[in-house]
Amino acid sequence: MTAPAPDQAADPVARRRTFAIISHPDAGKTTLTEKLLLFGGAIQLAGEVKAKKNRQSTRSDWMGIEKERGISVVTSVMTFEYADRVFNLLDTPGHEDFSEDTYRTLTAVDSAVMVIDAAKGIEARTRKLFEVCRMRDIPIVTFINKMDRETRDPFDLLDEIEKTLALDTAPVTWPIGRGRSFAGTFDLRRNLVRRLDDEVTPTPVNGPQSALFDQLLPADEVGPWREEVELAMDACKPFDLQSFREGHLTPVFFGSALRNFGVRDLIDALAANAPPPRSQDADRRTVVANENRMTGFVFKIQANMDPNHRDRMAFIRVCSGKLTRGMKAKLVRTGKSIPINTPQFFFAQDRSIADEAWAGDVVGLPNHGTLRIGDTLTEGEDLVFRGVPSFAPEILRRIKLTDAMKAKKLREALQQMAEEGVVQLFVPQDGSAAIVGVVGALQLDVLKERLLAEYGLPIDYDTTRFSVCRWVEAADSRELDRFVSANLSSMASDLDGAPVFMAPSPFSLKYDQERWPDIRFSDVKDYQ
Ligand code: G4P
Repeated sequence: MTAPAPDQAADPVARRRTFAIISHPDAGKTTLTEKLLLFGGAIQLAGEVKAKKNRQSTRSDWMGIEKERGISVVTSVMTFEYADRVFNLLDTPGHEDFSEDTYRTLTAVDSAVMVIDAAKGIEARTRKLFEVCRMRDIPIVTFINKMDRETRDPFDLLDEIEKTLALDTAPVTWPIGRGRSFAGTFDLRRNLVRRLDDEVTPTPVNGPQSALFDQLLPADEVGPWREEVELAMDACKPFDLQSFREGHLTPVFFGSALRNFGVRDLIDALAANAPPPRSQDADRRTVVANENRMTGFVFKIQANMDPNHRDRMAFIRVCSGKLTRGMKAKLVRTGKSIPINTPQFFFAQDRSIADEAWAGDVVGLPNHGTLRIGDTLTEGEDLVFRGVPSFAPEILRRIKLTDAMKAKKLREALQQMAEEGVVQLFVPQDGSAAIVGVVGALQLDVLKERLLAEYGLPIDYDTTRFSVCRWVEAADSRELDRFVSANLSSMASDLDGAPVFMAPSPFSLKYDQERWPDIRFSDVKDYQ
């Protein structure tokens, strides 16, 4: 991969940096987001993004359920400019019950920042999200956070990243002290010191032997620190743009999001080295970002962003060309042309009409049921982007409607919710009540709350005899027909009419898989 051209300021696509932050809850993602936005001037006050506990409510705090439980349920996008770059920061839900949303969001980014709590190292959810990034070779920049608190040894943390994630590390900065002694960072290659009490102006030094460190660190810490840094300068890999862009090496920064320290180096690194919009694989060909004609796909549908408007927004990642307000785009799934009248950009507290958006940008399109997750929009070409996945749900529940007169309305509402990706919908072939599938139980609460609030439909859930399901396919369609007829009471159709087999337990599923070797049972499905 080549480095961005020097005159890229003139090229709107080359200026775009579209990224997400991945982390385990509590590592500091919200705090870091807030600080990054401050750099972009997207928010005026620290604390604006924070949507937790009893804090002041913000725009990322859209749903009642999120407020009640103090968790970040929704995915949002925030656009800001810094250092002549346009950054699109895609937020991901912190709660693992919404992991599907997060996976879809990661299909729309070109790089990611991995935030690690310096006292805890790699935690379960960080590892899982990292694996999703790896599947797409997304380059990762690492931010080791909370250096102002007691931490683990930096070498130990780097070693853990290398071993558990099989990812090379290149520390760009090194912490000067830790916990109570944390005094700033030392740039290992450029011999620059950033002090905690003055982050803006780095001080050049002649290396770790500089007398400045005697001032910054307690007398008993400075000697061991010098040895540590010399070892780091000697033994750690230098940053290599190509390995980073290919997803093999992560540059590492140390800092404290809470103290707004280390964030400047991080955002400068993103501006300089994070990749511009990548090429995207579609069914017929690969689409390159600087092609002239607009293409894009829907990776997220979000409801109730503004309680006063009850709107639904389809989020599109523009993959190539320019999306212009007022243009008509082809919705490839239906072949219909749809007008793009009010595309919108989002900022931390605000949104605005997007007159034009380029490859790499994420825009919201107000949507009244026309667009679904996974939909491709083009200027006429028949191509479908691959890779917005759907995962076999881990919880299945039958919907119990308390008012039988509203069955038709419920069908429509469930269809809508499934198209938005709130839940997956399975319509049993034996005509019994609809089954919904979710990855995490909180999704069931969201569905129930939304059906009541938006459609006036009070529902409850019944357990079903099924606990697992799989999409089924066969090379020979007659074999699939035989399978379906033999298992009619265990078959359902998903939103697209694809056949789904449901089983009471993983054990019985395994038994059926052995009995039907020519049927492919799949737990992931690409939207198309
Ligand atoms: P998350 O979005 O990843 O879940 O994490 P969030 O930013 O909400 O941070 C989790 C907690 O860690 C917060 O404390 C936050 O203030 C704290 N934190 C974040 N970055 C740093 C840091 O660099 N240093 C230190 N010492 N703490 C940090 P909390 O107790 O949950 O909330 P509150 O104290 O902000 O009320």
